[in-house]
Amino acid sequence: MASYVLAIDQGTTGSTVALMDDQGRLCASVNNEFPQHYPQPGWVEHEAADIWKSVKKGIASILRKGLCKPTDIAAIGITNQRETTLLWDRRSGEALNKAIVWQCRRTTEFCEKLKSDGHEKMVKRKSGLVLDPYFSASKFRWLLRNTKGIKTALNAGRVAGGTVDSYLIWQLSGGQRHVSDVSNASRTSLMNLATLDWDNELLELFDVPRDILPEIVPSSGVLATTQGIKGLPDGIPIAGVAGDQQAALFGQACFTPGDAKCTFGTGSFILMNTGTEPLDSHSGLLTTVAWQLGSKKPVYALEGGAFVCGAAVQWLRDELQIIRRSAEVETLARQVDDHGGVEFVPALTGLGAPHWAPEARGVICGLTRGSGRAHIARATLDAMALQNADILLAMERDLGKRMKPLRVDGGASANDLLMQIQADVLGRKLIRPQVVETTVAGACYLAGLGVGLWQKPADIRKIWQSDAEFRVKMKPQQRRQRVSSWQRALDRALIL
Ligand code: G3P
Repeated sequence: MASYVLAIDQGTTGSTVALMDDQGRLCASVNNEFPQHYPQPGWVEHEAADIWKSVKKGIASILRKGLCKPTDIAAIGITNQRETTLLWDRRSGEALNKAIVWQCRRTTEFCEKLKSDGHEKMVKRKSGLVLDPYFSASKFRWLLRNTKGIKTALNAGRVAGGTVDSYLIWQLSGGQRHVSDVSNASRTSLMNLATLDWDNELLELFDVPRDILPEIVPSSGVLATTQGIKGLPDGIPIAGVAGDQQAALFGQACFTPGDAKCTFGTGSFILMNTGTEPLDSHSGLLTTVAWQLGSKKPVYALEGGAFVCGAAVQWLRDELQIIRRSAEVETLARQVDDHGGVEFVPALTGLGAPHWAPEARGVICGLTRGSGRAHIARATLDAMALQNADILLAMERDLGKRMKPLRVDGGASANDLLMQIQADVLGRKLIRPQVVETTVAGACYLAGLGVGLWQKPADIRKIWQSDAEFRVKMKPQQRRQRVSSWQRALDRALIL
């Protein structure tokens, strides 16, 4: 019996393809990077064809390893960079323009205008999201106004639009299915959180025609099947789909309300399971769909993301050039006892939750004659942890109680110093799982559940295992001082 799951994790800078067996073991994984385009300051674009090529290359490499026969693949799971928006031709499958990446700030002015015209309350109430260029709706509007030949294509009914999950499902199913899962759709600002359908008032506000959008489907269950993909038999079910942060929440087995995870990637994203009813945030966080398993009630989450996390370390490496490899940041930071008064607010692409200040800019301050590279490295790690603490404390305010120990994952979660700093500035225990590729794992679990490889989330909980715990070592008084120094630096980034 087919007993493997193939997962596609289509991320911002590269695509990972991985294979998991029915015991939840990751047997292999390959990553292919693809080019990023920055045509103007603040703009970020991808070529859809590059994305698709990197995915196909990954599938071919995994199959070449010969760990299982293609017919042993029971299901495919997809997880993806969220909010990134694209249009393609229904006849050829080719993109009509470059994809606008979630990080792109080109629609800032339009979002500000909607805010000053008083639309934010309605958008927040219906979609759970604030008005910010981060989300897909204003990106769709831009593409529909600025893509060459778009009017003719629209009149001919040839335009398909969507987030990356829907584009990949279209390609994998040979153009048979135009669907997006609820978790991805909940990041567009066009889906109504209560009805789980595109909302007419939101569509009108952003001027997006409903008929170019995908059908919204659950995150687990047979959503499409493969057709015409080299090396793969036709008919393999695509049975699990979720935005990458929601997939990581699932991969961390955060199945109970109050369970939360923080993924340390390019940015850092914190999500907390809030159960089957959406919880409004009064603290600058987002309400979003975590997942929907088949016809069951959807599970919602509160989310806060800091746009720059690991990217701050890359900036030290590529722009300041004070380290040669990202991993060196830990060794350098360990050369000093603390930040020595130096603060780095990495608002390099504005500030996300809970501030939502697209115009904020990065700040390094508190320098003295004694400050050196090591202090800047340490201040960077502190900043990554402090901005997460701001988000987590906002989450506790919304929740009205202390949260459970935070589960951590993503590349930088391997950095023990960073994890200790995180536990200290937050004042809460952290747990790191054995499998830190939780995004891929989440996609596999959703797909495996979708075809009955596993029966219920409790089966997944048995697979999930903790690897390390980080307990709080910092004294409360020390924490108060550390946080207030950070707050002063943050104020400077916000008033620029
Ligand atoms: O919301 C953006 C997020 O989904 C991007 O994740 O891992 O591709 O940086 P990542």
